[in-house]
Amino acid sequence: MQSPPSMASLQLSCTVLGTTAPKPHTLPNARRSRRFHVSCSGGPAEEGKVDRRNMLLGLGGMYGAANLVSDTKLARADPLLPPEFKSCGVAYVGEDPLDVNCCPPTSDVIKDYKLPPVHRLRVRRAAHRLNLANVAKYKRAVKMMRDLDVADPTDPRGFSQQANIHCAYCNGAHDQVGHEGLDIQVHFSWLFFPFHRWYLYFYERIMADLLKDPTFALPYWNWDQPKGMQLPWMFDEEDSSLYDPNRNQDRRPPAVLNLALNSTITDPVQIISNNLSLMYNEMIGTPASATDFMGKAYRDGDAPPTYPDGGTSEKGSHTAVHAWFGDPRNEYNEDIGNFYSAGRDPAFYSHHANVDRMWTIWNDIPADYQKAITDPDYLNASFLFYDEKKQLVRVKVADCFNHKKMGYDYEKVDIPWVRSKPPQRAAAVNIQDLSKGVKTAEKVFPLKLRKTTRVLVAKPTVGKADEVLVLENIVTDNRKLIKFDVFVNDEDDKPEEVDRAEYAGGFTQLPHRVKAKNSVSDLRLNLKQLYENINIADDDTVVVTIVPLINGEAVTIGGIKIVEAPTA
Ligand code: C2O
Repeated sequence: MQSPPSMASLQLSCTVLGTTAPKPHTLPNARRSRRFHVSCSGGPAEEGKVDRRNMLLGLGGMYGAANLVSDTKLARADPLLPPEFKSCGVAYVGEDPLDVNCCPPTSDVIKDYKLPPVHRLRVRRAAHRLNLANVAKYKRAVKMMRDLDVADPTDPRGFSQQANIHCAYCNGAHDQVGHEGLDIQVHFSWLFFPFHRWYLYFYERIMADLLKDPTFALPYWNWDQPKGMQLPWMFDEEDSSLYDPNRNQDRRPPAVLNLALNSTITDPVQIISNNLSLMYNEMIGTPASATDFMGKAYRDGDAPPTYPDGGTSEKGSHTAVHAWFGDPRNEYNEDIGNFYSAGRDPAFYSHHANVDRMWTIWNDIPADYQKAITDPDYLNASFLFYDEKKQLVRVKVADCFNHKKMGYDYEKVDIPWVRSKPPQRAAAVNIQDLSKGVKTAEKVFPLKLRKTTRVLVAKPTVGKADEVLVLENIVTDNRKLIKFDVFVNDEDDKPEEVDRAEYAGGFTQLPHRVKAKNSVSDLRLNLKQLYENINIADDDTVVVTIVPLINGEAVTIGGIKIVEAPTA
């Protein structure tokens, strides 16, 4: 096997580590056991960084040689690299290997994607406002994609192949190049919005191309608006290409979407008020930095991030919609309730169009922190997708910041949640009264979250302050759907009402794959605004209430504390 020219100059000495001899051409249904990795040491000429672009050019080349580029010593801290499709392996849920193969077709040619010039913007419209002709058009597009599945199952434009993209990038089918055993995970980090934006971009372009309609735009599910707070009807007609039988049957329209995931509450007025308040919090009230909203940093060689690393929008409304509509009759809440299967539900793409719309809206909301993330490891992170001409392309995060340059925009509608700040309490609670009979943290933790628990927690500073509530070492069973909520100084004890000043935030986990059966993570909730809203007195303790909503018995919380907010 010959090395591509860019490789030859690197003067590497490499050893192939692997148990099974690699096949010269790994088939799309490659199993994890066929993988191997290469350990290299850089030649003397190559101290430090190597031009990654040149290195990447080797990726589409011969199997094996392509792996030479992936040595960790050369990589240092760097942007996440796109996966090597040829070494795609088995996807997982928890520790259970999936019985589906979600690896993409392979290709020897990878092009760096350039945004084509925009002649006319596609306008993505709210699904509940779409006229019949446009609904029919979208149905036709999905039908055409489903037909491609049958005509040629390896056609990357087919509906199943499109669905598999999500599985492969989210359930551990792709290892990070050069880091065997470290998954690529496009959730729970700053890659969340960019990855999904690019994903929808090609999905939409494929449809426009199949329809031969360059104006075709993906409808968005306007779930942040009362009229959109149910599954749009177009997805619920059983004989349509937009229908998916694997959904929670109790939540078919006109059932009201409950972003709080609290199924004990049925009053639609309260549900909608909760939803709007949650939207306000995740978009405006809670984030105190760009990464609070976007998700934490995630670079080449980092362990795959987990739920708490995600941004407020991802962890909030985004996850809630997945969880609410996933089918509880299926072991892992398939389809939309689990990452590996979510793309099989046509509603997923409209859901994510609204998630993407949230990114555009957040960008325009004035804030006292800087919105742009300028870290090169963010800007240069890249992914691979097939475009509408079946060409495998490499796209960069930095190229997706301006959605209009990508050729689309969103129909403007009223955004009621900007006016949904939880009402401020007139007077502070009396902490002496409230804390009667409430135990201190040392007595309660570690806590198995079987029932609603109240606990007294010390503050570093009395009264209003810039502080963060930390729930530490939260151990969750990755296979389970999980939700719990947290309130501070709540004397009303109405856990079903999250549209109140005392609501601090929640924890939601979709069943997903990380390395082990359990995840261990910390949940950090900013308290600065909450203290203002509850009008806290000069107290040095607060009462924290933790309310399990879904599968509390699969959660153990190691400890709880309040710390000063880190200075950014
Ligand atoms: Cu990639 Cu909504 O998940």
